[in-house]
Amino acid sequence: MSRQVRQHTPSDEQVAALVHDAAAAPSMHNAQPWRFRYFRGTRTFELRADFERAMPHSDPETRGLHLGCGAALLNLRIAVVHEGWHPETRLLPDPTDRALLASVQLTGSAGDEGDLGALYPAIHQRHSSRYPFEETEIPETVREALGTAAQDEGADLSFPSSWHLQDVLELVQEAEARNITDPGSDQDLAQWTQTDAPSVNTADDGVPQYAFGPRKRGGRAPMRDFAGARQVAGRDAADFERNPQLALVSTVHDRPEDWLRAGQAMERVLLLATLRGLSSSFATQPFEWTDLRWPLRDPASGTGYQQLLLRLGYGPKGPRTPRRPVTEVLDIQP
Ligand SMILES: Cc1cc2nc3c(=O)[nH]c(=O)nc-3n(C[C@H](O)[C@H](O)[C@H](O)COP(=O)(O)O)c2cc1C
Repeated sequence: MSRQVRQHTPSDEQVAALVHDAAAAPSMHNAQPWRFRYFRGTRTFELRADFERAMPHSDPETRGLHLGCGAALLNLRIAVVHEGWHPETRLLPDPTDRALLASVQLTGSAGDEGDLGALYPAIHQRHSSRYPFEETEIPETVREALGTAAQDEGADLSFPSSWHLQDVLELVQEAEARNITDPGSDQDLAQWTQTDAPSVNTADDGVPQYAFGPRKRGGRAPMRDFAGARQVAGRDAADFERNPQLALVSTVHDRPEDWLRAGQAMERVLLLATLRGLSSSFATQPFEWTDLRWPLRDPASGTGYQQLLLRLGYGPKGPRTPRRPVTEVLDIQP
């Protein structure tokens, strides 16, 4: 819910608070591949890609990087609306500067973006949950609302079922099998996961061991094992869902602006899901292999480009994972 219409210039503390909200977004391996620049004079944020935080092996095209930055952009827009401004947003405003992903100018009142503010409480409640979920089906009305949330951001959400679900699960398995023997995936995983006590407690990026969830003993839910081949002391094993509820986000085209749209749609779906009492995680292994990405679509109806795979359900909430301090990702200009 928007608080009030703002016309004044926000203080630097308010600007930092907006970036704190934006940076709560999910990102591949929690690399947080973003930077924010704020121009006081024009009340404008620039969202920039931090390509040094790209995954050369798992995400060579930087599509996954754009998805995470899209999620941060949606959070920023929500936080701006929540504070009573309208976020005048442009994707890729300068074609000669590929790191400049979006600009967000704070203008008059929230206007037609007003209902975005209702998602604000979920920004800091949403965490990836790599625990088993219940078999309870998500009601059709909730699925429809999630689909509308994706459409509002220019993407499509579909819940594969029967043989299409089986195909998707097999593609995840195939990707996992390839990852086991792929030194590149191992390298990305090792760089962005922490299993030793000092770094688990101090790192402000990457996936800490306490967020890995239990090792999968049984069930059909697709779970990425962040431990890889490493043994993690004291880690339990568990049975996951037999009938996982997965959702594919897709777009009509496959350009950087579509990846940003898909990232915003993904976050809008995840935040609404959080408000509706759902937990969530991701399973994007097949997206890391070009030849496995195309067959993920539903051949009966799917013409779009699949961008990512979400797992939704009722179950334990995930733990909060670290974020870099705002001072490291925000630069304020006159
Ligand atoms: C593009 C993208 C791909 C991701 N792929 C996976 C995945 O395959 N498996 C997984 O468990 N988490 C995946 N994640 C979730 C991130 O690991 C997670 O967002 C990050 O560690 C931060 O944790 P949080 O979501 O709890 O804030 C992905 C996130 C994004 C944005």
